[in-house]
Amino acid sequence: MVEVVRAEPVDLDGIRALVALEGSGFEPKVELERRFARLWVARDPAGLGVLGFLLAWDVADEVHLLDLVVAPEARRRGIGRRLLGALLEHAATAGARRILLEVRRSNTKAIALYESAGFERVGERLGYYADGDDALLMTRELSAC
Ligand SMILES: CC(C)(COP(=O)(O)OP(=O)(O)OC[C@H]1O[C@@H](n2cnc3c(N)ncnc32)[C@H](O)[C@@H]1OP(=O)(O)O)[C@@H](O)C(=O)NCCC(=O)NCCS
Repeated sequence: MVEVVRAEPVDLDGIRALVALEGSGFEPKVELERRFARLWVARDPAGLGVLGFLLAWDVADEVHLLDLVVAPEARRRGIGRRLLGALLEHAATAGARRILLEVRRSNTKAIALYESAGFERVGERLGYYADGDDALLMTRELSAC
């Protein structure tokens, strides 16, 4: 079974490969060393490396989801949902008030995933991406208790 765990130095090359493919261009080593960054990976049980990652930052009483990528050959097997589950668990344990993220308006797959995990569309950022695409702002409110 694929394991979802906090990233370690051994995962850096695998994460980098996924960032190069689809990610937002961050450098995983820098994120691993940031005090407020949280990085999870989905590891292949057969030792074939990293099948997905999720990067978030703890910012005051909010958690910002910055990037989530699953390897193309491993998609639609529940890995994205499990990575998001790890984030939700972390946010609840840390006592965060909400999780927020930006997603391309055209990214229907990711929007479906986030909505199925309780995220709601709360705004938009026109021309947010370098290519002019708009972003939706989505949040998941967390209960205070
Ligand atoms: C978005 C992404 C992370 C989903 O990862 P995944 O592991 O394939 O997702 P899961 O298998 O956990 O699917 C969870 C839910 O997401 C939605 N979803 C995922 N892929 C979908 C698709 N191709 N079409 C429609 N809905 C889809 C569905 O609601 C799905 O639930 P279901 O299988 O019960 O119907 C993956 O497609 C990806 O890496 N895309 C490129 C990077 C990206 O867009 N990241 C988001 C940045 S904001």
